Amino acid sequence: MSDKKASNEMWGGRFASGPAAIMEAINASIGFDRKLYAQDIRGSLAHAAMLAETGIISAQDSEKIAAGLNTILSEIESRKFAFSTRLEDIHMNVEARLAELIGPAAGRLHTARSRNDQVAVDFRLWVKEETRKAGAALERLIAALVARAEEHAATVMPGFTHLQSAQPVTFGHHLMAYVEMFGRDLSRVTDAVRRMDESPLGAAALAGTSFPIDRHRTAAALGFREPTRNSIDSVSDRDFALDFLSAAAIISVHLSRMAEEIVIWSTPQFGFVKLSDSFSTGSSIMPQKKNPDAAELIRAKTGRVNGDLFALLTVMKGLPLAYSKDMQEDKEAVFDAAETIELTLAAMTGMVADLTVNDAAMKKAAGSGYSTATDLADWLVREAGIPFREAHHATGRAVALAEEKGCPLERLSLEDLRSINGAITADVFSVLSVRNSVKSRSSFGGTAPAEVRRQIRYWKKRLKQGAQRKKLR
Ligand code: ARG
Repeated sequence: MSDKKASNEMWGGRFASGPAAIMEAINASIGFDRKLYAQDIRGSLAHAAMLAETGIISAQDSEKIAAGLNTILSEIESRKFAFSTRLEDIHMNVEARLAELIGPAAGRLHTARSRNDQVAVDFRLWVKEETRKAGAALERLIAALVARAEEHAATVMPGFTHLQSAQPVTFGHHLMAYVEMFGRDLSRVTDAVRRMDESPLGAAALAGTSFPIDRHRTAAALGFREPTRNSIDSVSDRDFALDFLSAAAIISVHLSRMAEEIVIWSTPQFGFVKLSDSFSTGSSIMPQKKNPDAAELIRAKTGRVNGDLFALLTVMKGLPLAYSKDMQEDKEAVFDAAETIELTLAAMTGMVADLTVNDAAMKKAAGSGYSTATDLADWLVREAGIPFREAHHATGRAVALAEEKGCPLERLSLEDLRSINGAITADVFSVLSVRNSVKSRSSFGGTAPAEVRRQIRYWKKRLKQGAQRKKLR
């Protein structure tokens, strides 16, 4: 039996050539970390410039390195670069090509640096940019929601608890609830960016370096606020990725709740909204159907984003300081989550902007299910001085009577109502209509159209201030 055959039998399949092939496959990250090429080159350019400025390498070598790195950047962007799995990752692929291009000077680039701080800085740059992009996408979604809320500040709909009609609210108010949710997400991503805005470059393998590097200089050159303060933490920290993933997971959970409501609202049974053709599909067999596929997929993709968060939490759990190769598994989860929320946020923004609201169906539903029962109870407390618990009981009897007669509360006669409680006068009818019920809930943050408009004004101002802050930066 030849050696070749023996190894074939033992390893089989794609690893037929034996342990070397298996090791290469498990060890290499170039299949995914090539995504970091621009950040890797930026980091190396900043490092090389600093090495020359501090006299650690010569200006000529630094210039050669910079020219070579820029050539590599254009090779990658024009898809002429040959990535090699044998060279393991993006860092070694770039460095090997640099040696081909400029010769021995290439070997000076890695002075006072390790792949440990190199990958940490590359990945931070990438995550920081994606986190900012998520913030911008959230702002677009919030703006779309605010615009629809303004249109529908006075459109009544049933408000639900337990998905049972509870009290009438306005559609604008309901949409503004999502604005609050996505607004918290926006503050989470803004906060995450601020926290991750520190450069780990110069931490080297884990202990720092004996070369007189200037970490403040590279931090500033790369757009970081300051360098990280502890070299051990710098190469073992992936909190920035976890911050991004947790924010992404919460964003996805919010998106899934809204998607679920859109699915419910667009059923013929509810008929509150109609989705535009661009965000729904027909059925291949049932010609009458229009399916809310985009909403369903937004709802479903929450699963993978939550999974991405869990994947990295689990990778990091129990890792001793400082760097371990485990941490190479940090990237795919983050890439996947970033791509996913970019898509789902855009889809939700489009769907919100495009959907048609059926005011009449909402209004009709708002009046059903005795949704103004609380208003009757409140009237009894306010106007007749009855304790709330007693008023609650009397209202229960009014609902039972209306049910018996098959009519809404406001269609009961004054005599009917007085048979339940003698203190009731004709004035009660002023609170039993859906419109008046909504209008009366004018407590701060409440559903009265005037209050909803106040919330809208607040958010418009906040969006404008955010845009101005960005311009100043
Ligand atoms: N590809 C590696 C990663 O993604 C780069 C760092 C490798 N460092 C090392 N000491 N092997 O984590």
